[in-house]
This record gives sequence, structure tokens and C-alpha cells, in this order.
Amino acid sequence: MTSIAVLERANVKTITPKQAKNDLFDRLMNKEAEMAVIGLGYVGLPLAVYMASTFRVKGYDINSEKVKTIQSNVDPCGELDAKVFENKDITYTDDYKELSSASFFIVAVPTPIDEHKQPNLNPLSSATTMVAKNLKKGDVVVFESTVYPGCTEEVCVPILEGISGLKYNEDFFIGYSPERINPGDEKHTFTQITKVVSGSNKETLDTVAKVYSEVVLAGVHKASSIKVAEASKIVENTQRDVNIALMNELSYIFSKAGIAISDVLEAAGTKWNFLNFFPGLVGGHCIGVDPYYLMHKANELGVTPNLITASRETNEHMYIHIGRQIERMTEKTNKNNKDISILVRGITFKENVQDLRNSKVIDLVDYLRLRGYPVTIEDPYADKNEAMDRYKIDLKEDALTDEYDVVVMGVNHDLYHEEGNLDKLIKEDGFMFDIRGTFGKYVRNRKYKTI
Ligand SMILES: NC(=O)c1ccc[n+]([C@@H]2O[C@H](COP(=O)([O-])OP(=O)(O)OC[C@H]3O[C@@H](n4cnc5c(N)ncnc54)[C@H](O)[C@@H]3O)[C@@H](O)[C@H]2O)c1
Repeated sequence: MTSIAVLERANVKTITPKQAKNDLFDRLMNKEAEMAVIGLGYVGLPLAVYMASTFRVKGYDINSEKVKTIQSNVDPCGELDAKVFENKDITYTDDYKELSSASFFIVAVPTPIDEHKQPNLNPLSSATTMVAKNLKKGDVVVFESTVYPGCTEEVCVPILEGISGLKYNEDFFIGYSPERINPGDEKHTFTQITKVVSGSNKETLDTVAKVYSEVVLAGVHKASSIKVAEASKIVENTQRDVNIALMNELSYIFSKAGIAISDVLEAAGTKWNFLNFFPGLVGGHCIGVDPYYLMHKANELGVTPNLITASRETNEHMYIHIGRQIERMTEKTNKNNKDISILVRGITFKENVQDLRNSKVIDLVDYLRLRGYPVTIEDPYADKNEAMDRYKIDLKEDALTDEYDVVVMGVNHDLYHEEGNLDKLIKEDGFMFDIRGTFGKYVRNRKYKTI
């Protein structure tokens, strides 16, 4: 039964849903209608702020501390400069009831995996519930969170219908537009990347495309359906995962054969169509997570995704291959592990970001510590308190005043390249192990090894 509250909400406007949707873009443009962005993280905050250069935007996040920080024009993720916040029509809130003034919602909350590596859709369901409680006739809800194909319509739409009492594609409409930003990358920013957009019907697709086209300078690509748009995102990251896994497997083979994979890739890379992938650790919450969403859907459909599963396993275990190589090199020194000092440089999940989530360098640190090596860790990008809270890791701020038996370059941070000669950190009989293989030029009179 439809509740009075729902009827009241549904009657807020005197126009029909069709009229509302038809002129939603115009109403957003002339600021009669408001946009809300739900989830102000790596994806949602830049999206909200750039949208606010054209539209009236409300940014909502459940994390009150985060909202407070953002209200003082500081990006907690460290990606946006203060000047990006200037002259924007945006307010921030941690109160979901304030979403009632919005007509165009964009959901950008996390889609992690659980301890069994299955999709954890709790944040997405909970954010959708908040939207549903504020949904009115004619509204459009666009999802940006990365999901398996079918998820938006199978999981989110029933929540929106069930709580609002409104009917999908009659009273309210949805879109899906995957995000492609690459934190730490100053070239491929929100406005500079072609945005894939989709809609629950043709008119909604047009509305969503027009909204994004206002702010995305690179333009939009209209996908033929919501499922296609969902699949396109997951394929981008799965493709990278599989290709990196191939490089990692090749690096096992070549290390046994006594060949440096970096030399092999340099030679093979002279062919015009050779793909530019490197071996390494695959952490973070995109490449290392999204394939599990696809694997989940494949299994549901009765398909065993052998290649994707094997690639995930290869990449998940790469830290062991690296740890063993370091062990083998230290065995040659005839010292006990407890007397071999190791400095690990960089623990963020990738270069030039402060994001520590799902960092695979941490797995390597655990592996080395379990074998008795005293390991010191430093990272100029990482937050000391977060490293302690998340991993019980004490980042050493004056780590560079010492010399170590082994220096492991864990992450390819730009700041490390600015230091020049790195011999000074390594004892005379010590060595550097360089996971990404980019620091060799700074090691002049010490042993150097890469994957
Ligand atoms: N970070 C990336 O590089 C990237 C790139 C492309 C796509 N994505 C995808 O975008 C989505 C968001 O990722 P992110 O990196 O921005 O995550 P994030 O963790 O940086 O930010 C998510 C924000 O959502 C908030 N949140 C969680 N539950 C909420 C709720 N119920 N209501 C309101 N706010 C809520 C959190 O407090 C957080 O601030 C994920 O699906 C991710 O896979 C991320």
C-alpha cells in the first residue's frame, strides 16, 4: 500500500513524470532543479565539484568528518586543489533528508568485496535506500559505482520502487555512467575522459548524456543499455588485470631462466602492436576488485571464468614471488634474516596517491617480517595515522638518514625519482630490489635487481 508520506512526496510537483523528465535538463540548467551526489570519495567529490560549475549541487556523504573537511574546501583524498572548489554552486551535507530537494541523483559509493571475495553491495543498497526515501515523480537516478552487468536493475531498482512506492520507467528513471578517473593522474581528469552514459529509456539516455556533456569536455559515449555500460567498465579493469597477470607469469618463467623480464619487454616493445604492460603488484579497489564482480556474475550465469580467475590468483600471489626473490638474494650473504635490515619505500596501492586500501606492498611487508627481517617502512604520500589504524604499520619519517642491507622500491612515486643517487641508502654489500623496475638509473655502485 502506498503511504501518505509517499503520496505527499509524489505530489510535490504539479507536473506529470513525463513532463518533469522531459524538461529536467532545462530545469537543472536554469537551477530550478537540483542535483545530488551521494558518496564524496575519489569518484564522487570531483564529480560533484565539476558538476557544480554548471548545476546547483548537493553533495551528501554518511561520513560526517569527511563532510566537515570538504566544507572547508579540502579534498580528503588529496586529489583536488583548493582552487577547484572556487565559484561552485555546491553545498555539502551528512543528512540524507536534505536530498529531498534534488531531482537528479548520482550515486558514487564503494562497491568492495567481502572476505570471500564476493560483491559486498551493502554501501550501494544503503545509499540507494537514502535516495529512495527522497525520490519523487520524474526524478532520475544515475549510478556510477562499478558493478557487474545487471546489478543496477536487479538490485537498485527494486529498492527504489519498494521504498518510494513509485514505478520504474513510469514515475522515475535511471541511468548508469561508469567512472574512469585514475587517481594520481593529472592528465586523465574527470573533464578530460570520454564518459560512457546509459539510460533506462531513450529520453533518459538523452537527459543523462546532456547533463554529463555540460561538464565533460571529452564528450560522452551513449551505450546501448545500462547492462552494456556496466559491462564496459568491468571489462576495462579485467582486461588490465589479465594482461598484468600474463606479465607476472612471464616474470616467474624468465626469472627461472635467468633472463630479466624488463630486457625482454624492452626488446618485444619495439614491435608496433606489442601491448605496454609490466609485471607488478595489483592492489587498490578497482583492478584488484572489479574482476571478482564479473566472476560472480559469470558463475551465476553458469560460466566458469577460467582465465579471469587464474589471472586474479596470479596477481594476488605476486608478492610471494617477489618475497622469495628477495630471500634468495639475502641467502647469499650468510647473515641471519634478523641481521638483514630492509627498507620498504612506498606502501600506497599505486604511485603518487595517498590511498592505502588493499595495498599489496603490505602483503610483502608481512611476508618479510614473518621470515624475521627487521623491516622499516617509509612513504611520503601515505598518512601516518591511517597506516597505523589500517595495518598497524609505523611509518618512519627519518628513515632516509640510515643505510640498509636491502632497499625495496615498492611504489613508483615521482618524489623518489627526484632524489637522484640512491646508493646512499644501501650498505656497500647490500642491494636494491625494484618492483616496478624504474629506479635502476639511480643505483650506481650497489647491486640492483628488478622483478
Ligand atoms: N577510485 C577510483 O579510482 C575509481 C575509479 C573508477 C570507479 N570507481 C568506482 O567508484 C565507486 C566509488 O569509489 P571511490 O573510490 O570514490 O570510493 P571512496 O571510498 O573513495 O568513496 C566513497 C564515499 O562514499 C561514502 N559512502 C559510503 N556509503 C555511503 C552511503 N550509504 N551513503 C552516502 N555515502 C556513502 C563513503 O563515506 C566515501 O566517502 C566504486 O564503485 C569504485 O569501484 C573508483
